[in-house]
Amino acid sequence: MSKVTPSLKAAQFTESVIREMTRLARKHQAVNLSQGFPDFPAPAEIKAAANQAIEHDINQYAITWGSPRLREAIAVDFTRRYGVPVDPETQVTVCCGSTEAMISTMLGVVDPGDEVIVFEPFYENYGPDAILSGATPRFVPLREPSWSFDPDELAAAFSDRTRAIIINTPNNPTGKVFTRDELQQIAKLCQQWDVIAITDEIYEHILYDGTSHIPLATLDGMAERTVTINSVSKTFSVTGWRVGWTISPASLAAGIRKVHDFLTVGAPAPLQEAAAFALKQSGSDGDDYYRNLAAHYAARRDRLLAVLERTGFRCYRPSGAYYIMTDISAFGFDNDVEFTRYMVQEIGVAGVPGSSFYREPSGGRTKLRFCFCKRDETLAEAERRLAKLQVRA
Ligand SMILES: Cc1ncc(COP(=O)(O)O)c(C=O)c1O
Repeated sequence: MSKVTPSLKAAQFTESVIREMTRLARKHQAVNLSQGFPDFPAPAEIKAAANQAIEHDINQYAITWGSPRLREAIAVDFTRRYGVPVDPETQVTVCCGSTEAMISTMLGVVDPGDEVIVFEPFYENYGPDAILSGATPRFVPLREPSWSFDPDELAAAFSDRTRAIIINTPNNPTGKVFTRDELQQIAKLCQQWDVIAITDEIYEHILYDGTSHIPLATLDGMAERTVTINSVSKTFSVTGWRVGWTISPASLAAGIRKVHDFLTVGAPAPLQEAAAFALKQSGSDGDDYYRNLAAHYAARRDRLLAVLERTGFRCYRPSGAYYIMTDISAFGFDNDVEFTRYMVQEIGVAGVPGSSFYREPSGGRTKLRFCFCKRDETLAEAERRLAKLQVRA
């Protein structure tokens, strides 16, 4: 048999369905409500800061674990908002987006054969991340409509084999924001079983209806065992910049930094400077930027919710992030993939089939996720096209 083939590792997972949907949307000129990236401009001042950094010749490799100015800004920002001390010298690692932060963390702190607990439905990258790091994922269901977990089911997933648990709050795709009570249950189990918590908090500022974001690292005894992952992608509407980071105990950063170094050397140097500017600037305006961001998305959420419900989708109202998970049973299709293709090709609106967030496709067979990080005109066009969709059941 030929050895000129992809590796066994790569053969174990498929291409990203989310990114594939974006390509399909382009091909069919569909309104793209699939992949979560804004179609409006990034804030002018931070674009100016990026231009300035390039002009000032910050164009060579930054220190591999992040420019000192950005690490300092990340540490100051986290401490200011959550009261947890962070040493930028030893605890912050700047990566190419939270995507790289997650895989560098998995490769840097998890060994082949370890189990990693993942809540399901999950952001699709976590599956391949587990495979690439040789870990065995143990899935714990988040049950609709509230997307809460059963405490006994969670407790049963922990064992001596568990090395880590991944938590994403505010959550993609469900819009769930984990409560203090839920986080306390997770923290207790992590401490009982000596497990590392890896939290993806990339939507921390995108919250609705007075909901608060609670970083797991703020809970008693958790900063010592938590890797907090974040990035500028969603907060500053710059998903293409590829600047993210981890905040972790120094002992774990040592592993993460080594992997990060050999994977990418570093994130784009001038954009790290602009990210530092963005964090500092948003801190100095009394958090107005963050409040406005949440308000801007709240209006879009309400608008898309109304359109989808009118069209016949059953919607799970998100408390955070910028997605709406829907139930598509009313449209009479056999499965989510078939329905999504029909939507792109015949209706001209792209979403993401629910099955891409579940280990077994059957888990998401009746679901479709839409994003609403889009201009008013884009949402208006989606509304116009969705009017053609007929309820069949
Ligand atoms: C939960 C979650 N984590 C990570 C990412 C990727 O973020 P980044 O652009 O920082 O790599 C996304 C993007 O949609 C996401 O939804």
